[in-house]
Amino acid sequence: MAIKLIIDTDPGIDDAMALFYAISDPGIELIALTTVFGNVTTTQATRNALFLLETAGIDIPVSEGLHKPRELLAYPPSSHVHGTEGFGNLLIEQPKGQAVSESAPEFLVEMARAHKGELVVCPIGPLTNIAAALDLDPEFCNNLKRLVIMGGSLRAGGNITPVAEANIYHDPHAADFLFRHGSNITLVGLDVTNRVICSRDYFRKLAEQSPILGGMVNQMADFYIDFYETVGKFEGCGMHDPSALINCVAPDLFVTEDHKLSVICCGEQSGETISDSSSVGEAVKVCVGVDADAVKKKFFENVAKLK
Ligand code: RIB
Ligand code: CA
Repeated sequence: MAIKLIIDTDPGIDDAMALFYAISDPGIELIALTTVFGNVTTTQATRNALFLLETAGIDIPVSEGLHKPRELLAYPPSSHVHGTEGFGNLLIEQPKGQAVSESAPEFLVEMARAHKGELVVCPIGPLTNIAAALDLDPEFCNNLKRLVIMGGSLRAGGNITPVAEANIYHDPHAADFLFRHGSNITLVGLDVTNRVICSRDYFRKLAEQSPILGGMVNQMADFYIDFYETVGKFEGCGMHDPSALINCVAPDLFVTEDHKLSVICCGEQSGETISDSSSVGEAVKVCVGVDADAVKKKFFENVAKLK
């Protein structure tokens, strides 16, 4: 049976890839999107989420999330990585639809209660909405089947600072709160996503098989890989958000270790995820190994079936 899934997202190039993966995999029943700042502002994230769904012909609710981190001031979006509108040089049409009236934290709490024990939530942006949902309902995480987070790094270093992964860095207080008080958490961080690297060739082939949506992904990926080339670290781009989505349906492709976690919330180390046995929190399943070829195969075989 397909898993019921909500993605909390800041679209974002790899977020768009993750969303297209979610709609292409028959093992996923995507029931809604919630939006957050990060790669773009929250207002842009909502517009981009609606745009992607409408372009793909998918009619599900979008709920707009919070506009700034739990304690820090709002950051400027990461336009050097994802472009000023979020999708590289791709032009975005104004969507026809609108977000639902409930805010993302309220909507997430409601959905977790309505689908108690069945819902997987996959945050692929900063954890602001998820922490706020746990504030609203201390049972929020317990009501989920799993909370599969793209974020953090135990041993791989950072991607926005030498020690911090971007999603955790953009709201360290939210992440720290969640690691101390949440449950059912799997972390898909840079320890594995930095190993799921795709060159331009993968995306060019995808565009041939799926001219419309795969073609969009190919155009966005060109911009994303241009950025990665300036960093000079990889031959292609990291499939961060798609890897988290694939963990939702195929956890067996990943090796995990149990760690209690905390997050450094100030100073030069801000955003660093720490294995912290003294933390009051429940152990998190931290992904430390991945069958990268199988993850890539699963991604491209499914997305290639789209229009
Ligand atoms: O560190 C990778 C994460 O940061 C991804 O979610 C990407 O979309 C950016 O938000
Ligand atoms: Ca993201």
